Amino acid sequence: MGATYIHCGAERHLGRESMGMVMQRALPACAEELRARYAGAVQTVYLDPPFNTGKRFEMKARIGEKGYRTGSPTLSLPAYEDLWPDREAYLAMMRETLTLARDLLKKEGTLFLHIDCRMHAHMRLLMDEVFGEHNFLNEIIWSYQSGGRARTYFPRKHDVILFYAKSRAYYFNLRAVPIARSEARSNHMKRGVDADGRTYRSIVSAGKEYRYYDDEPTYPGDVWDDVSHLQQKDPQRTGYDTQKPVRLLERIVACATQEGDLVCDLFAGSGTTAVAAANLGRRFLCVDQNPLAVAVMGKRLSQTAAGRPMGVCFDVEAPCGADDCTVEAEVFPAITSYTVRLIGFDSPKARRAGIEGLDAVDQWYAGFVQGDAFRSCAASVRTVGTPALKPALEMPVCGGEPCIMIVDIWGNRRFYLPKRRY
Ligand SMILES: C[S@@+](CC[C@H](N)C(=O)[O-])C[C@H]1O[C@@H](n2cnc3c(N)ncnc32)[C@H](O)[C@@H]1O
Repeated sequence: MGATYIHCGAERHLGRESMGMVMQRALPACAEELRARYAGAVQTVYLDPPFNTGKRFEMKARIGEKGYRTGSPTLSLPAYEDLWPDREAYLAMMRETLTLARDLLKKEGTLFLHIDCRMHAHMRLLMDEVFGEHNFLNEIIWSYQSGGRARTYFPRKHDVILFYAKSRAYYFNLRAVPIARSEARSNHMKRGVDADGRTYRSIVSAGKEYRYYDDEPTYPGDVWDDVSHLQQKDPQRTGYDTQKPVRLLERIVACATQEGDLVCDLFAGSGTTAVAAANLGRRFLCVDQNPLAVAVMGKRLSQTAAGRPMGVCFDVEAPCGADDCTVEAEVFPAITSYTVRLIGFDSPKARRAGIEGLDAVDQWYAGFVQGDAFRSCAASVRTVGTPALKPALEMPVCGGEPCIMIVDIWGNRRFYLPKRRY
């Protein structure tokens, strides 16, 4: 007999729950729920919405231990569709989302809207409408080298990030994002050494000398060309199409928030905003409609400082009803801990795709059920660094029934009560 399938409405990790929240929800249907829970609580919102590209995006998932060890086999899984009946439908969705984002912000709050040349002009006008023209702060150009090589027009090598405040009382700290002084950009200046031996570059303008010391930090302007796009082999890559670099989000989070502030991303994808927020000691609220995105976020967060003590809460619409998978799992008690072992997994869907047994499992967690919530205490997730799943997890003896959560390669979460060996 295998482990018993149970239905859980939500999954919650033990620990500092306030560190972060990941919600699997579709906009704009969840707008009222988010307003009821978070209106006026968010310090900054970053939005990287679909760009109205007319494309279907995918995730390249590595399969099983061999897939993570050698890069093959992989499976292309549908991530999300950026298809709209017409431009009006896209703009209507964006108007509702921007209005929601404005309502979630504190009066000191700001919003960064990431967009490209397709919808940029429309978004600038829409932002003026929703946030007010007087609250416009910057049109940041994120310039990069990667991408296609057009021949019939200049290759498109930048995205635009529109930066708006909710009110004139907004918080912004440029000093929090120093960058290295670029040799290339200051080589038109005269080099000098002052009486204390400090080297500087100088320029004379309107009869006045301006000195820029080499040992003083400089700060980014509104053209960001020092943050590269993720290269094919970048270790940050999760396989999720349209993933943005953590460095880009760290710059945004660092200048727009302070430690402990709440950062929100309503199109969270692979969870780059959550990772940046966690790295910088900010709390996060991340929303995405796609179970695969939530699964990728779970995995990334379990590897950050915030995720390690399981300080993240996942609010996910888990499937209800009957389950057609078979799971072999058992739990052994000790005095202060349980050992939970995952022995086998069989999924008809995986078998149809040629994937056998535990190769279809991408992550598993041991924890408790309390009411309809799963509280995770220990995790094993496949990564390039740890391709094999741990066969056993240790968890403390505390309230609730020992339970495991299995996340398959499609991002589906299932909960089972392991067979008791006591
Ligand atoms: C461009 S991607 C975000 C990528 C992300 N910044 C990252 O670094 O991985 C857009 C995301 O929006 C999600 N999405 C699209 N429409 C949505 C909707 N109506 N509600 C919630 N999420 C949506 C998609 O599932 C996708 O993951």
